[in-house]
Amino acid sequence: MNDDIEKVLYSREEIHQVAQKLGEKITTDYADKDPLVVCILKGASLFMSDIVREINTYCEIDFMSVSSYGDAQVSSGAVKIIKDLDVSVENRNVLIVEDIIDTGRTLQTLVDLFDHRHAQSVKICTLLDKKERRVEGVQPDYIGFDVPNEFVVGYGLDYMGHYRNLPYVGVLKPEVYSN
Ligand code: PRP
Ligand code: MN
Ligand code: MG
Repeated sequence: MNDDIEKVLYSREEIHQVAQKLGEKITTDYADKDPLVVCILKGASLFMSDIVREINTYCEIDFMSVSSYGDAQVSSGAVKIIKDLDVSVENRNVLIVEDIIDTGRTLQTLVDLFDHRHAQSVKICTLLDKKERRVEGVQPDYIGFDVPNEFVVGYGLDYMGHYRNLPYVGVLKPEVYSN
């Protein structure tokens, strides 16, 4: 599996440090706001567990599973809800945790949905921001790294369901996905 990786972009240690930094900021910003921290499965699962452990104030966590890519490399444009939240977002301060913003379609859909459901506020925390590929106007509030337009996997990010368990974010070798 590691042989399929061309280079490591962000190591486990760098990700841990960035999660600490973002967690500190989130703790300050959300003191007394009792945020509902929403993990977007499956990609955000690893980063979510880092981030919530750095939030040093009351919060709730919940999980939502959406998919726009399936096994495709290019987004279909349609975001499908596979598992909805258990907790209501009404009048809640929602903090969405994502692994990556690419076109922004997934997050734009979720922000619109939570607004429609009368959340008090909706903010976004993402490990990676791939700005170059943005189609929607959605803006993350907390960003781990600005990532170049490369095929990245690991730390929750997959290619055909694999590589999520890599403890770092790396660039996939082109020969892995080009044949
Ligand atoms: C990936 C990624 C983000 C989304 C970003 O999820 O985890 O959720 O795509 O792309 P966008 O900004 O173009 O919408 P995916 O749909 O692959 O599901 P997964 O998290 O289960 O892998
Ligand atoms: Mn995802
Ligand atoms: Mg995926």
